[in-house]
Amino acid sequence: MATKELVTKVWIEDGCIVCDACETSSPTVFEVTDDTCIIRPEALSAEFTKPLTDSIVEAAEECPVDVIKFDTVAGEAPDAPAGAPADPAEASVEKAPAAAAAKPAPVVEAKAPEKKPAAAVAGDPDPAIQSLLRAATSRGGAAAILAPDEGSAPAVKALQSTPSKDLPPDARQARIMAGTKKASEEGGVSRRGVLAGSACGVGWLALGGTTAVSGLAFQRFMMPNVLEEPDPKVRVGPADVYSSMNPGEVNEETKPDGFWIIRNEGSIAALNIICTHLGCIPNWLPNDRKFKCPCHGSGFYPDGINFEGPAPRPLERFRIMLVDGIVTVDRSKKFQYEKGEWDNPDSYVEV
Ligand code: FES
Repeated sequence: MATKELVTKVWIEDGCIVCDACETSSPTVFEVTDDTCIIRPEALSAEFTKPLTDSIVEAAEECPVDVIKFDTVAGEAPDAPAGAPADPAEASVEKAPAAAAAKPAPVVEAKAPEKKPAAAVAGDPDPAIQSLLRAATSRGGAAAILAPDEGSAPAVKALQSTPSKDLPPDARQARIMAGTKKASEEGGVSRRGVLAGSACGVGWLALGGTTAVSGLAFQRFMMPNVLEEPDPKVRVGPADVYSSMNPGEVNEETKPDGFWIIRNEGSIAALNIICTHLGCIPNWLPNDRKFKCPCHGSGFYPDGINFEGPAPRPLERFRIMLVDGIVTVDRSKKFQYEKGEWDNPDSYVEV
């Protein structure tokens, strides 16, 4: 038997964006729920994970936010039976119950992932997709994709016919938006339904998932110019809810409405969740104390200032005010740091 590194332990660190990439690669090990991803109980056993090494490694490689970690040990790779599928689930092999961890693992070798056609894999961004994303950013987000014009329509069509796993992150983001449109046209609003157009499952969409974003709320936010024009004003709660936050703290409950409430020294502000690079939606990583964009790695401090990656400027802030003691955010008015607009008293509320 040949010797190779075999996975003995797999876990998921903070920052999961609830995409379906890991479950797609290794459905017997990972399970994506409505708001998180878990390791299936039976996969906590080294004897169970060892034969699935290849699919676990693939899942880690496919994870857009690199939160899947694993330990390995050198061992003898079990010979794969001829024609063995990549995952026991596909072979209808009975799953090993958690209580039977000591039982010998099913002798099923994960098939090496097929090499993808080079042209379809991340590396050289497709100019059409880049153009599409630029349009989406400059023309009001998803609207450009939801209502593609002559120039962007071919790119949208290409996205819909390419497996999400074969797309670079920015193209996946565009595909998510296209998938959202499809779900809307079909009347589907569930998370899975909205994600159906993407094998990645749209971690980004499910950004929603990370923060309990419902498919409906996200859909409403992503398609303001198509389905309905939402009221730009959002009442987010009494001032004392936010005055008790510590400086640097981030409230994610309003993320489905398109902003985070952040606490600065003596004031709060409403931070737009749209990345200033190409319009993806960053995640708040509380352990790292930063917002991290899954598309190209831009990082932002808790106050929205960019400090890493390609984002050219800080996140924007929305107008925020107190109306009858209720913190109210007006998404029709934005403030940009680089223009000195964060000094505008409408860009923060002293609480
Ligand atoms: Fe490129 Fe956020 S969209 S880093």
